[in-house]
Amino acid sequence: MENYDLVIRGGVVVNSDATTAMNIAISDGTIRELLHPDVPLPSSDQVVEATGKTILPGGVDPHCHVGQRLGAYAGLDDYQSASTAALFGGTTTIIDFAIPQPGEDPVRALRDRRELAADSRSNVAFHGCIIEPDSPVPEQIAQMVELGVRTVKLFTTYRGEVMASKKTILEVMRSLKQYGGLPYVHAEANHFVEDSQQRMRELSKLDAASMPETRPIIAELAAVSETIDLARYVESPVYFVHQTTGKAVDLVSSARSAGVTAYSEVCPHYLSLSDEHYSQPHPERFVCCPPLRDSATVEELNSRALRGNVDALGSDHCCFSTGQKAESAHDVTQMPNGLPGVETRLPVAYTTLVVRHGMSVNDFVGLFSTTPARLNGLPSKGHIGVGFDADLVILDESRAKTATSDHLHMATDYTPYEGTVLQGWPEVVICHGKVVTEGDRFIDPGPVGRTLNAEPIDLG
Ligand code: URP
Ligand code: ZN
Ligand code: ZN
Repeated sequence: MENYDLVIRGGVVVNSDATTAMNIAISDGTIRELLHPDVPLPSSDQVVEATGKTILPGGVDPHCHVGQRLGAYAGLDDYQSASTAALFGGTTTIIDFAIPQPGEDPVRALRDRRELAADSRSNVAFHGCIIEPDSPVPEQIAQMVELGVRTVKLFTTYRGEVMASKKTILEVMRSLKQYGGLPYVHAEANHFVEDSQQRMRELSKLDAASMPETRPIIAELAAVSETIDLARYVESPVYFVHQTTGKAVDLVSSARSAGVTAYSEVCPHYLSLSDEHYSQPHPERFVCCPPLRDSATVEELNSRALRGNVDALGSDHCCFSTGQKAESAHDVTQMPNGLPGVETRLPVAYTTLVVRHGMSVNDFVGLFSTTPARLNGLPSKGHIGVGFDADLVILDESRAKTATSDHLHMATDYTPYEGTVLQGWPEVVICHGKVVTEGDRFIDPGPVGRTLNAEPIDLG
C-alpha cells in the first residue's frame, strides 16, 4: 500500500458542485486519493485532523496589486509579505497585475514582476496590462502569452497614467482572442470622472470625504455599457473587475443573455462597507476606486451575488499605510487608491455572503476559488479532486474572531474591518501539499518560485 506525504482525516469537502465527507491523501503537491470515511486510512508521513471541520479548495484571488506604485505612492508589500498574508487568509494563489509605469514597456514590466515573484510563498500568476502601445499590440500580446499570461488589464480611466484608448482596447481584445485570452477591464468612463472631479474642485471639495461624488455610479455604468459594445463588435469575451452596483452586474447579465461572453467580479469591501465611512473619522482609509457606495447599493450588489449573477471575488488588495493615505487626504486626485484585503477576503466575504445573506458554501467556493481558477486559465486549481493541486483550507465555520490589524500579516498598519467580528477564518492552510499555516503559526515554506502559466481560458 502506498505511503502518502499527508492525509487529512475527517473533514467535509466542499466544492462548488458538491459537499462530501472524505479523507484526502496527498503526495508531491497533488491530491492522489479521496477516500470514503469508512475506508481504512492509508499510511502517511503526516496526518491533519479535520473532524468537524470544512475543507475548501485553496482560494484563488484574481485581483491583487503587490507593491503597486500608484502616482507618488508605492504599495508597502512585496511578494514575500503579500503571499504570506494571502496564505493566512486561505488564498493559495494570488494573481497580480504587471501594470507598467507611463512609458514603460508592458512586457518588460511583466518580466520584472515574474522575477520578483520568485520570493513568493504561495502560487502566483499574472495579468498583463497595456496602456498605449509603442509597439504593435499583437506583438505585445504574443510576448505576454509566451510569458504565461492570457489575461490583460485595460483601464478606461486614469488619463495620462494607465488609461487605454478605445482603439487599444479593441486591438487587445482582437489579439487576445487568438490565444484563448480574456481582457480584464476597470470600467469607469473617464469623462464623467474628470468632470465630477472638476466640479468638486470648484466647490473646494476634493478631500477624502468627497470621494463618492468624484467617481459617480454613472461613470461605472457608462463604461461597462460601452466596453460590452466593444466586446460584442470584436466577438471577444470580457471580464469586469470590481463591480460595485447591482445595475453594473445587470448590464453584464443582460449582455450574456444577448450572447456576449461577459463576467462580473465583486470585492469584499463593496459587499460589506458603505459610503458611511466617508463621513466618519479617517475617510481616507476607505478611499478605493471605484468608491464605496450607499448602503442600498451595497445590498443590491449582494442580491446579485446571491442570484448567481457574479462570477468571481477579487480582493483588489492594495497595501498602503494610514500615513500614506493621510498624506494627500485633502485631494483624492493625488491619494493612493485601494484597500488592504488579500488576507481578509475569505472571512469578510464568507461572513457577508454565507452568514448574513445565506449563500450556500458551494456557491461561495465558486466565487472564492473555482471560477477565478477557470477564468485565469489555471485548470489544476479551484477544486478538490484526484489529480488537482493540493491547495486546501480547513475551516471551523462556526468560529468567530474579531478582525484587528495587530493580528493580520499584511504590510500595513490598518484594516478597514478593525473591530468587526468575522467568521470563516482558516484554521489550517495547505499549499502544494504542505501545511503552511496552523492557527497563528506560519510554517514558512521559503521562496517557492511557483509562478503559474495560464492555459487557454475555458469560457464555460
Ligand atoms: O482602488 C483601487 N482599486 N486601486 C487600485 C487600482 C485600480 O483601480 O485597480
Ligand atoms: Zn481597478
Ligand atoms: Zn485593482
